[in-house]
Amino acid sequence: MSLIDSHAHLDDQRFDEDREEVIKRAKENGLSNIINIGHDMQSSRSSVQLAEKYPFIFAAVGVHPHDAKDVPNDYLKQLEELSRHDKVLAIGEIGLDYYYDMSPREVQKKVFLEQLNLAKELNMPVIVHLRDAYGDFLEIMRKERLEPTTGVMHCFSGSSEVAKECLDMGFYISFAGPITFKNAPKVREAASQVPLNKLLVETDCPYLTPVPYRGKRNEPAYVQYTAEQLATVKEISIEELSSAVTDNTKKLFGNKNGGVSFEG
Ligand code: NI
Repeated sequence: MSLIDSHAHLDDQRFDEDREEVIKRAKENGLSNIINIGHDMQSSRSSVQLAEKYPFIFAAVGVHPHDAKDVPNDYLKQLEELSRHDKVLAIGEIGLDYYYDMSPREVQKKVFLEQLNLAKELNMPVIVHLRDAYGDFLEIMRKERLEPTTGVMHCFSGSSEVAKECLDMGFYISFAGPITFKNAPKVREAASQVPLNKLLVETDCPYLTPVPYRGKRNEPAYVQYTAEQLATVKEISIEELSSAVTDNTKKLFGNKNGGVSFEG
């Protein structure tokens, strides 16, 4: 049995002390791959560096809505250059976050839209971060049409109805630690409605640590707890769930240059 952590931030400073051991533990716990995700220019570069260092780690490059206010003028050009690297598989994480509103909403929308268009141009999938901004997200997606690009709704926390609309737009739906939280029956309900061939798992580490480690720093090895919860929700074995989410992740991210080899 193996799993892929489809969304990690191993370049985060909270891993500075023991990054090597954390990555080793992921391998020992049966993870076949990790996709490390950028949230600004610096972390996008660090993600590429991690992917260069470890054969089984891949990268995504992009600017998170929190960081949208700080993009340099030529950030799209920089992202495009980074995206040419063989191990960069997606544009992300990008999106809208009206819960924290760390960047002005107009700026969030502009930077999201520009990166969606970049992904479309490059024919790469997108990794979408969405919080309390569903209306504007839908409006942008309706205007822009995602095809031929596809993507994933990362750390999904919306309702079954929202999940359905995202599925209709062609998105995969990824679940993280919160699905294991006692107070998250709505997330489990939404997950139960997502077809098995559209599910992904992730940690979003160092954040969103699943039960039983909730409150501690998260790491890729803990993705198994989210997978176990998802298997319970879907009423299938952990083996069947793992095999499906691994296939889905490879299908979504594996199209670059005529086919990515995930062996590492
Ligand atoms: Ni993230």
